[in-house]
Amino acid sequence: MSYDGKLLARARGELENIRTQNRAEMQRRYAEVTARVPEIRRIDEKLRAHMARLVRLTIAKGPDLKERLDEIRNENLDLQMKRAELLTAAGFKSDYLDEIISCPLCRDTGIYKSGVCKCLDRLYNRELTKELGALMRRGDESFEKFDLTLYPAQVDPASGLVPREVMRKVSDACRRYADNFSAASPNLLFQGGTGLGKTWLSACIARVVAERGFSVCYDTAASALENYERAKFSRDLPEGEEAALRIKRMESCGLMILDDLGTEMTTPMAQSALYTLVNNRLVNGRKTIISTNLTNDELTKRYTPQIASRILGEFQCLPFVGEDIRRMKR
Ligand SMILES: Nc1ncnc2c1ncn2[C@@H]1O[C@H](COP(=O)(O)OP(=O)(O)O)[C@@H](O)[C@H]1O
Ligand SMILES: [Mg+2]
Ligand SMILES: [Zn+2]
Repeated sequence: MSYDGKLLARARGELENIRTQNRAEMQRRYAEVTARVPEIRRIDEKLRAHMARLVRLTIAKGPDLKERLDEIRNENLDLQMKRAELLTAAGFKSDYLDEIISCPLCRDTGIYKSGVCKCLDRLYNRELTKELGALMRRGDESFEKFDLTLYPAQVDPASGLVPREVMRKVSDACRRYADNFSAASPNLLFQGGTGLGKTWLSACIARVVAERGFSVCYDTAASALENYERAKFSRDLPEGEEAALRIKRMESCGLMILDDLGTEMTTPMAQSALYTLVNNRLVNGRKTIISTNLTNDELTKRYTPQIASRILGEFQCLPFVGEDIRRMKR
């Protein structure tokens, strides 16, 4: 995983906020406890004085060093015991005044085994997700609001299927997919006509998966693939750098949603960009959801055999059926 510096800095800022909050809570608790049991403050002052003495003794290295150190340590143990008794006697939990740490792995430093800790990675993905919000056009897509009654309950004579039943299964599958999303999840291909809820359901998935802390990118195929062109032809310009960054995110995020495949231009450049994006993600085991109005035959005709075989071979197809909801709503 490679991190974008600007977003990582924002994630570090969030971690700093957590540390600040924890420190404030520790101070609040200390004030609360010592207001009721002032003796605890006196014990703490003694403990601190002992600490300073320990340091001085160790540096001075007197003849009876060991005995004097042991003496102080024993006194400390007594003081700590007394402190714990006072605390519980006043009705507080014995760890009430302990240091508050949100992530035991890295002790809220964000660094674990000289890498980025899981907690910081999580915060980073949150930052990524905030950007996702701007890309979603509507914002009220959620499984709770998914309305099955928009799909006909009668048998569709052409296919012999009941759209509402098919879409019940599809939406259940999407919900399970989002709830269980992991490195072992399959790639999905949302296939079906215009206005059948493909973008809607992919947005529902994006929201849940992102809330669970994964990095999610969403873009239409046309806009996603344009970045490759821009990165190549405007390499030294700010928009070229921006595009290269965007490509890095699209290729490395945990879940990429590539919407409306088939509406982009069919230039050789777009074909090669599509292959690069899809293939890099497959090779690295990252999950992708593609939605398209194209049938398998149309996919095969439109794209190179390498692309078509990747999509048809490595993606699990979910069929979208029914009547154009966008038209019905008008
Ligand atoms: N289950 C649903 N409940 C409410 N509105 C929906 C639902 N599914 C789709 N819509 C609405 O129907 C229209 C088409 O959905 P959309 O996801 O854009 O279709 P597609 O991506 O398949 O073309 C949109 O206006 C969307 O808000
Ligand atoms: Mg759509
Ligand atoms: Zn951590």
